[in-house]
Amino acid sequence: MFEKLKPQVTEIITQKSSSVEERLLQICQLLNANIDYYDWVGFYFKNGDKPELKLGPYVGEPTDHTIIPFGKGICGQVAVSNENFVVPDVQAQDNYIACSITVKSEIVIPLFVNGENVGQIDIDSNTPDPFTEADERFLEFVNEKVAGIL
Ligand code: SME
Repeated sequence: MFEKLKPQVTEIITQKSSSVEERLLQICQLLNANIDYYDWVGFYFKNGDKPELKLGPYVGEPTDHTIIPFGKGICGQVAVSNENFVVPDVQAQDNYIACSITVKSEIVIPLFVNGENVGQIDIDSNTPDPFTEADERFLEFVNEKVAGIL
């Protein structure tokens, strides 16, 4: 499944006629439509010079959490740790920001441009414990591609 999606990600990234925002939205749509346990797919980016994340393109239920301070929630922790964060069970996390009661698990992968953590891709799933290392490798691939157009 991931191997089939990779060329489609590359194709979206290289569409020079679309804005970066549009291309990121298309990537969210591609992942949400093709991976059944990816129920909410979105990008957060560092908000200028502020120590906070700002919501970028996403697919799924609207969220109130359009700004997340560094350190808060899974996303805010990844902003400071620079490391992948896989959460098999969100209820077992103390520092977690709930967006929807249907969400059971989450994966957040940081996005680096020239070695700097500038944002992340965030996936929420309504399935408990669905993420494997294959998801991590695939989402790292997506972020590397996205980094090339930022
Ligand atoms: N659950 C995230 C907040 C973002 S929403 O999932 C869209 C967190 O704990 O950082």
